[in-house]
Amino acid sequence: MRGPQLVSSKFIRQEASRSAADGEHARIIMDRFSILRTRILREMRNHGWRRLAVVPLTKGAGGTFVAINLALALSRQKQTEVILMDLDFGDPSVSAELGVPGCEPVTDAILQGHRLSDLVNIVEEAPNLSILVPGHAEPDAAELIQSEDFSKAMTDLRNHYPASIEIIDTAPLIGGDMALATLPLADAMLLVADGREGTAADMTLAQRLLKDMPPVMGVVLNKSED
Ligand SMILES: Nc1ncnc2c1ncn2[C@@H]1O[C@H](COP(=O)(O)OP(=O)(O)O)[C@@H](O)[C@H]1O
Ligand SMILES: [Mg+2]
Repeated sequence: MRGPQLVSSKFIRQEASRSAADGEHARIIMDRFSILRTRILREMRNHGWRRLAVVPLTKGAGGTFVAINLALALSRQKQTEVILMDLDFGDPSVSAELGVPGCEPVTDAILQGHRLSDLVNIVEEAPNLSILVPGHAEPDAAELIQSEDFSKAMTDLRNHYPASIEIIDTAPLIGGDMALATLPLADAMLLVADGREGTAADMTLAQRLLKDMPPVMGVVLNKSED
């Protein structure tokens, strides 16, 4: 067993230098996610929820973008320990988007009987943020996510790594069953829609798919304002 290692995020370093060059734009994005963070924290605390799945309706809607920026906004609060997990095992992209090295395959860790906490890293530029972000697609993502061994490993991780808030990046809801298989791990979800197209029809389909799933806290209409 190893302790969490520090990894540096290229994304955060780039944002910091961009904000030095053009403070206005960086501040707008930061403010937007600070507002979302505050609303989400309040509502999660009111309900006693700690695990939030961020679910894009369709691929490319911006689920990963929102999950990363929301996790960063949460971790900027000193008293909030956040863990960001990329459970889009078939197509993980958090490590690339955040610009950090990905961890070893979850599949291997489980086969070898290692703890998932051995795969967790801490982001140097955001000390309240821990991450579990595989660097590559898992060989059989759907089977992995639904397996008893993974479910046990998640329970063990949560016992050994009690973050105050867990942000779970998932596969797109529409067009596959990976997201639906992931959702039982969450207390609630935040949907992310591409605000530029198809949102109404997608939402109708989403409502049908999400019957008996954890409650939807809200829908982020992404990409619609710029
Ligand atoms: N609001 C936004 N502003 C700028 N770029 C965005 C925004 N939302 C998403 N992107 C970019 O669009 C691409 C797809 O977004 P991503 O979050 O990976 O989608 P998803 O996870 O829903 O498939 C990424 O390159 C991401 O950085
Ligand atoms: Mg994604």
